[in-house]
Amino acid sequence: MRSTRRGTAICENDRVTTAIPTLGADIGEILIDEAAINARVAELGAEVTRDYAGRDLVLVSILKGALPFLADLMRQIPLPLTLDFMEVSSYGAATTSSGMVRILKDLAKPIEGRHVLIVEDILDTGHTLAHIRGHLETQRPASIRLCALLDKPARRIIPIAVDYRGFEIADKFVVGYGLDYAERYRNLPFIGVLKPEVYAEAE
Ligand code: IMP
Ligand code: MG
Repeated sequence: MRSTRRGTAICENDRVTTAIPTLGADIGEILIDEAAINARVAELGAEVTRDYAGRDLVLVSILKGALPFLADLMRQIPLPLTLDFMEVSSYGAATTSSGMVRILKDLAKPIEGRHVLIVEDILDTGHTLAHIRGHLETQRPASIRLCALLDKPARRIIPIAVDYRGFEIADKFVVGYGLDYAERYRNLPFIGVLKPEVYAEAE
């Protein structure tokens, strides 16, 4: 399938759901289409660029869900910066957080004295980001802020401040643009609500 273009809207998303029937058939509703994602990511990039000009910035991204967001966001930040990655596991195949966070991959380079911006796909209960933030704070960076594409405040258990937020969304399980259910749907170019029967069958 040819790659999707920027600035395309609902008809393009329809084309994708039709062209990938095995993925598209499981989506009940497109919550945020490609054009809306692109526009918001550009705004976030402009804010970050303004705030971090002249600072030694490292974007710490959480594998794997934040990858498309990171790839798009960093190209909207025309500053000297570096990337580093962590991978954590908290869910398995379920759609609700276990509250148990395990570090599967840690940073490759020290962050002491550097300005860290955590780039994450979604803030839900807050367990994952509270754990990651605490872990990074022990390494004495100059500052830590959080950039999350999506925020589900209704689900919050651990209070956590979001410095840059893409979209606030309702308490629905979403997939696409990096977000998965049981490791699938990450390659959808939009954010959609998974039909509840898809995970009801498995849980
Ligand atoms: P938290 O620890 O409950 O805040 O969950 C954060 C992690 O749960 C995210 O990094 C996602 O991997 C996953 N997650 C939370 N809500 C959703 C969702 O609606 N769709 C897909 N993954 C989600
Ligand atoms: Mg996930």
